[in-house]
This record gives sequence, structure tokens and C-alpha cells, in this order.
Amino acid sequence: MTRILITGASGLLGLNLCLQKWQTHSLIGVDRGKLNGTPFETFRADLTQPGTVARMIETLRPEAVIHTAANANLEACQTDPQGALYLNAVIPGQVAEACAKHDIRLVHISTDAVFDGSQVAEYTESAAPNPLSIYAHTKLAGEEQVLSAYPRAIVARVNFFGWSLSGTRSLSEFFFNKLSAGQQCNGFTDIFFCPLFVGDLAETLVLMLEENLSGLYHVVGSEALSKYDFGQRIARQFGFDPGLVVPRSVEDSGLTAPRSHNLSLSIHKLSTDLGVEIPSVSTGIEQFYTQAQQGYPQKMRSYAQA
Ligand SMILES: NC(=O)c1ccc[n+]([C@@H]2O[C@H](COP(=O)([O-])OP(=O)(O)OC[C@H]3O[C@@H](n4cnc5c(N)ncnc54)[C@H](OP(=O)(O)O)[C@@H]3O)[C@@H](O)[C@H]2O)c1
Repeated sequence: MTRILITGASGLLGLNLCLQKWQTHSLIGVDRGKLNGTPFETFRADLTQPGTVARMIETLRPEAVIHTAANANLEACQTDPQGALYLNAVIPGQVAEACAKHDIRLVHISTDAVFDGSQVAEYTESAAPNPLSIYAHTKLAGEEQVLSAYPRAIVARVNFFGWSLSGTRSLSEFFFNKLSAGQQCNGFTDIFFCPLFVGDLAETLVLMLEENLSGLYHVVGSEALSKYDFGQRIARQFGFDPGLVVPRSVEDSGLTAPRSHNLSLSIHKLSTDLGVEIPSVSTGIEQFYTQAQQGYPQKMRSYAQA
């Protein structure tokens, strides 16, 4: 598997994927004009323009597509439900149709947020989703569109952290930015999740393609922890004061989109089918730190269009 088209190449996942895999795979990153001077090939497209998706796939004919582009901002989706539905569900359906037509492998990226978080045990792939927010509703609709148009596609429900083009996109950057400036920040004690380092997610998604998996998979880290604990661990790794992370309830946060309290997902199916151990959040935070020591965040930001 060499020629892979990655949508959302300026995004948190897309850019890390492209930067991690361009030397071993012939990658094309789909961008709306935010990137400049990247070492990988880019293709300029607004996927919501009529006919764009079909034309792009027809022209580029990749061997595989990893579709990461989305409106992944919960608050923005809440205020623009129609736009969110179009980008997060209708477009993935178009991507899946085009891939099915040309027999191109597809990984569609979904979210852990499709669950309402009321279950105490880990959610497996057979657990019933019950999205709470507009974002989660539209992402679940996207999963359905993709799998009905192309049952051979992979739908990966993810949660991840890492460095981004803007330096502000991820939860890990939120904690880093606040703590490095010596500022207090809120850490929710009542949201549990299984974050995976974006570099580990990139490796896993490509491996899933290479191992010819298909269908629905949970692709998250191997450990559940609260967002407060996550902030504490970032603080300790970087040598910042963990006391700056203030324990808070998400219910007191003023955020408008409803959030699920328990997003502990089982990765048993993934690790069994791939025959590999999925990395923990601890090793991921170490890699996040090592990248900072190596100047990766600055390098990444140098690819932003001035
Ligand atoms: N971040 C997380 O922890 C998390 C958790 C669960 C699931 N996910 C899912 O993971 C995927 C990637 O998330 P992310 O955090 O990397 O998102 P992100 O940083 O917000 O990036 C979204 C990407 O989509 C692109 N995009 C938006 N509208 C587009 C359009 N009309 N045409 C072409 N490209 C468009 C954006 O381009 P511009 O830069 O030009 O706007 C950007 O490159 C999404 O499917 C998201 O739902 C993320």
C-alpha cells in the first residue's frame, strides 16, 4: 500500500499522519490552502463544493483514502447543525461511494462521542450508540453513510492528542499552553476517556489498511483516565506545577454542547485483529514531550501559510 490520499491534511490528525508517513508512503494531503512548503504532496479542495469528492477521487486514483476532514468542534456544530451534518455525514457518504466505485480502500474517522457515557463498563463495537451533541449525531450519521455505501470500509472511532498546526487544537496543547505560562486551568474530573498519541494513531490506521481490516473499530488508547488526570500527567512530564490543574466538573464549565461522562472504549477487537498491543497514554505523553524537545511543534507551525 503506497499511494494514500489523506483529507483534512491541515488538521490535528491529518497533518501528523502526513508528516509521519510521507517518507514511506506516497501521500497526497487534501488542504483548503492553510499549508505551505510541506514535504508531502498537497491537493487543494473544498470537499463541500458540489462534485468535488467524486472528481478528486477519479482524478487522483489513490490506493487508499484516510478521511479525517470534519467539523470536529462540538460548539461550532451545535450552532450550525445543517453544515455539520453535510460535512460530517453527507461528505463521508460521497467519499465512500467514490471509493467503492473504484475499489479504493477507505478508513473513515469517527469518534468515541457517539456513546452517551452512561454505561459503567467499557464500550465495545457492539454497544448501542446514543449521541448527545449535534457533533456526535452527525458523526454517527457519517458512520452509517459510509458503511451502507461501502461495507468494506474501515470506520475508526478515535480519540487522540498531539501537536497541531495552530498550536491550540488539542487538549494536550491546551494544558501545555496554560501550564507553560504558569496559568491555572480546569481539568474535568467527571469525563473519562482513552486518549491515544496521534503518532500511535497514525501508525495504527496505516497498519489497519495494510492488514486489510474492514468494518467498525475502536482505535483509542489502552487506558481510561479523567481529563483532570490527563492534565496532571502532562504537567508532571514537562516539569510544570500539577497544582495549576484545577479539578472541576464539566457541568460547571459553561460549554454548551452536552458531553458524555464515560468514554472508556474497549480496544480488544483491534488488538486481537491486528495482533499488536495498543500503546498506553503514558508512552504517548512521553512521545509528546520528546517531540517538544526536538522542536516538532515549531517545525509543524512552519508549514502554516503566512
Ligand atoms: N481531536 C480529537 O481528539 C478527536 C476525537 C474524536 C474524533 N475525532 C475525529 O477525528 C477526525 C480529525 O479530527 P481533527 O481533530 O484532526 O480535526 P481538525 O484539527 O479540526 O481538522 C479538521 C480538518 O478538516 C478540514 N476540513 C474542514 N472542512 C473542510 C472542507 N469543506 N473541505 C476540505 N477540508 C475540510 C480542515 O481544513 P481547514 O484547516 O482548512 O479548516 C482540517 O484540515 C475528525 O473526523 C474528528 O471528528 C477527533
